[in-house]
Amino acid sequence: MKIRVLGAGAGGGFPQWNCNCHNCKRLRAGELRGTRRTQSSIAVSSDGRNWLLFNASPDIRAQLEAFPESHPRTGVRDTGIKAILLIDSQIDHTTGLLMLRESTSPLEIYCSEMVKQDLTTGFPLFTMLEHYCKVSHHPVPLNGEAFTIPSIDDLRIYTHALKSKAPPYSPHRHDPHPGDNIGVIVEQISTGRKLYYAPGLGEIEPHVYGAMQAADCVLVDGTFWQHDEMSRAGICEKRALEMGHLPQSGEGGMIETLSTVPAGRKILIHINNTNPILDEDTPERKTLEQAGIEVAFDGMEITL
Ligand code: MLT
Ligand code: MN
Ligand code: ZN
Repeated sequence: MKIRVLGAGAGGGFPQWNCNCHNCKRLRAGELRGTRRTQSSIAVSSDGRNWLLFNASPDIRAQLEAFPESHPRTGVRDTGIKAILLIDSQIDHTTGLLMLRESTSPLEIYCSEMVKQDLTTGFPLFTMLEHYCKVSHHPVPLNGEAFTIPSIDDLRIYTHALKSKAPPYSPHRHDPHPGDNIGVIVEQISTGRKLYYAPGLGEIEPHVYGAMQAADCVLVDGTFWQHDEMSRAGICEKRALEMGHLPQSGEGGMIETLSTVPAGRKILIHINNTNPILDEDTPERKTLEQAGIEVAFDGMEITL
């Protein structure tokens, strides 16, 4: 299985256009050892030719341009992206659908009924796309059941509901429903190798922990180092969990959780620009290194 990180940043990216936080300011000034990150997306393939895109970030145009395997190969219009799976309906995971409107066939989109609802009401991208390429929606199961996707059929996909958050514009932002966010297991049928992907993860429920335990690679929520990171940075009072993100540090945090996960690769993704792990010289980054946890970056390639 091949996994390509198209964007490893959280909403806003790194640096964020209007952000003068410790990280963004120093990155712009060339005073931080670390790299820029576009917004949250990966692509997965079993043959290196046909790709399943996870999420469609606002940065998708540049992300695909920098990803030659997705480029057209035959005919006047073509793409290596055969289908799109949305893990939630957040702006950073869906806005890029508008940039795919030139598609010559309906976009094959796999997502929950909840996400479809958001994308036809609060943020009606599906409705808008009816005037362009159209959308062919495939509902995903929420009970961990498996499915396959035509033309990427050596991958078996399992999806389950997660505790995280629906976006602020969702009709059920304050009334959580199963399917507002999902975690995904991707198994390559011919090799049995497994990826677990959950960039927005608020709680390690037993089924989530089980999926992490069984994976060869976990690619999980790396948004915040600590609960009160946004208020410490002087940005806002929202705490990590209120935004649906389990922080890395502290009791029951992501580092502690991953310490009992046997996966060969443990990687954090969807990293907010305030997070000290973006700076390769911080003690927080050292802590991750000592724990065998990697930090995803744009262009990262993982072969399983
Ligand atoms: C989140 O996951 O909480 C988002 O990155 C927020 C956003 O896109 O504004
Ligand atoms: Mn996000
Ligand atoms: Zn910042």
